[in-house]
Amino acid sequence: MKVLVIGASGMLGSDVVSELQQRGHEVASPRSKELDITNLEHVAGIALSHGTYDWCINCGAYTAVDKAESEVQLATELNELGPAYLANACSMAGAKLIHISTDFVFDGESTTPYETDAPTNPLGVYGRTKRDGELAVLAANPNALIVRTSWLYGPNGKCFPKTMIAAWEAGKTLRVVSDQIGCPTSTGDLARVLVDMIEANIYPGIYHACGPTVTNWHQFAIDAINKWKSSKGDDRTVEVEAILTDAYPTPARRPKYSVLACETLWDLWIKPMRPLDEALADFSAYLSKAH
Ligand SMILES: NC(=O)c1ccc[n+]([C@@H]2O[C@H](COP(=O)([O-])OP(=O)(O)OC[C@H]3O[C@@H](n4cnc5c(N)ncnc54)[C@H](OP(=O)(O)O)[C@@H]3O)[C@@H](O)[C@H]2O)c1
Repeated sequence: MKVLVIGASGMLGSDVVSELQQRGHEVASPRSKELDITNLEHVAGIALSHGTYDWCINCGAYTAVDKAESEVQLATELNELGPAYLANACSMAGAKLIHISTDFVFDGESTTPYETDAPTNPLGVYGRTKRDGELAVLAANPNALIVRTSWLYGPNGKCFPKTMIAAWEAGKTLRVVSDQIGCPTSTGDLARVLVDMIEANIYPGIYHACGPTVTNWHQFAIDAINKWKSSKGDDRTVEVEAILTDAYPTPARRPKYSVLACETLWDLWIKPMRPLDEALADFSAYLSKAH
C-alpha cells in the first residue's frame, strides 16, 4: 500500500514510518515545512493527488500540554484546523485516514476504563483542541478512523522514561506524582497496531489503542529506571519519592484516571500490545545501545 505519514519526524510518526517500510509498504513522509497541514495550498496537493495514497496516518500535532495553555491559537491550528483540512483532502483524494488522538479528551473522573463512546470533557487547552480536532475530522470525513492513545514513549523523542533515566543518571532527587493513573504505550507497539489496522482495512470509527499495563507516573518512573539499570548491570538502589498532583502544580490540569478500554480493537483480531515490563525492556536495551 501507499501511505502518507504526517508528523513523520515525531516520536510516533518515525516508528510508524519504520514499521510501514519493514512491512513493504510505500511511504511518503514529508516534513512539516513541505507539508504543513495548516497551509491550505500544501493540503490542496493531497486533495489533487487522487489515487496516489491508499492511506494517510496523521501523527502530526501540537503536543506541548502545558505550553498549550498560553498558545491556544497555535494549538487550535495544529490540532483542529489542520486535521480538518487534511480529513477533507483525504476524502477528495480517496485516501483513508487514521487520525491520532489522546486520552486527554477525558476528564479523568471515571474509575473504570473509558469506552470509545464515553462522553469527552477535556481539562485543558491541549485536550480541548484534540477533542475539537476529532469532531472536525469526523465532520469533514465521516469515513476517517480516530485512534486515541495514551502516555506515549519511544526512542525518537522526548518522553517521560527518558527524562526520568537522565535525571536519575544525573543524580537528581526524583519526586513523581503517584495519583494519576493511566497506560504507558510504546510507540513501536502502537505503530505495529496502526499498520495491522490498515492491513486489515478496519472500518471507520473511534478506537482506543494503548498498552495493557495500568500504572501511575511514580511506578512508571521506578520501572523505567530499574529496566535501564539492569540493561547496564548497575546495582544502585532507585529512590523516587511519591508525591500528589497538588504538590506538583502545572499550567494544564491532567486527568487523574485515563485508562482507555481497547477491546473494540482487540475484538477485531488486532493483537494487543505487550505488557509494560516487556516493552520497557526493549526500550531500555535500545537506549543503552544508543549511549
Ligand atoms: N506524546 C504522548 O504522550 C501522547 C499521548 C497521547 C496521544 N498523543 C498523540 O499522538 C500523536 C503523536 O504524538 P508525538 O508525541 O509522537 O508527537 P511529536 O513527537 O510532538 O511530533 C509531532 C509531529 O507533528 C509535526 N507537525 C507539527 N506541526 C505540523 C504541521 N503544521 N504540519 C504537519 N506536521 C506538523 C512535527 O513535525 P516537525 O518536527 O517537522 O515540525 C512532528 O513530526 C499526536 O496526535 C498526539 O496528540 C501523544
